[in-house]
Amino acid sequence: MTSETPRHIVLIGMMGVGKSTIGNKLATAMGRQFLDLDAAIEQSAERTIAQIFASDGEHGFRDREAVALREAVASSEPLVIATGGGIVDGPAAGELDRQCCVWLTARLDTLVARVGAGQGRPLLSGDIEATLTDLLARRAPNYEKAATLTVAVDDQSVSAIVANLCKALETLC
Ligand code: S3P
Repeated sequence: MTSETPRHIVLIGMMGVGKSTIGNKLATAMGRQFLDLDAAIEQSAERTIAQIFASDGEHGFRDREAVALREAVASSEPLVIATGGGIVDGPAAGELDRQCCVWLTARLDTLVARVGAGQGRPLLSGDIEATLTDLLARRAPNYEKAATLTVAVDDQSVSAIVANLCKALETLC
């Protein structure tokens, strides 16, 4: 990071928590550009996330994720960036400490309902509830370590979450 590089707002948290939806609206509310890291990875690889996992494995995907995050944070414009849920598991994790990370949390039943059959998410197969439980147990300390701010999204509308975030981020980031 150079002295001219701004701190970006980076949304982290489990699959299904709403990082892309909230990030998109937060960016609009803050007058920033929004970047969805999974979409950026798919665009540069010209393949879907599922295809990348199938050909390169999870390690290959995590390496691409780290490159995509490094490129995103090099932007001279302060961005709002939505990440994939596993970013804290890979080589991108160190970069998160230099940014303003918002950890979005939700109850397990909320996540299970939102991810449905796990379509397009290669880590979700078989018993989705058990998989999410295991992933969350493993990732929670890493989310916590990276987070500047933690927000529980259950039972709140997207617009209420965005309004609260805008207020909190004014002083934090
Ligand atoms: C992943 C989450 C996905 C995507 C990939 C791996 C994970 O993004 O990056 O399928 O390891 O939790 P979302 O969190 O947007 O679903």
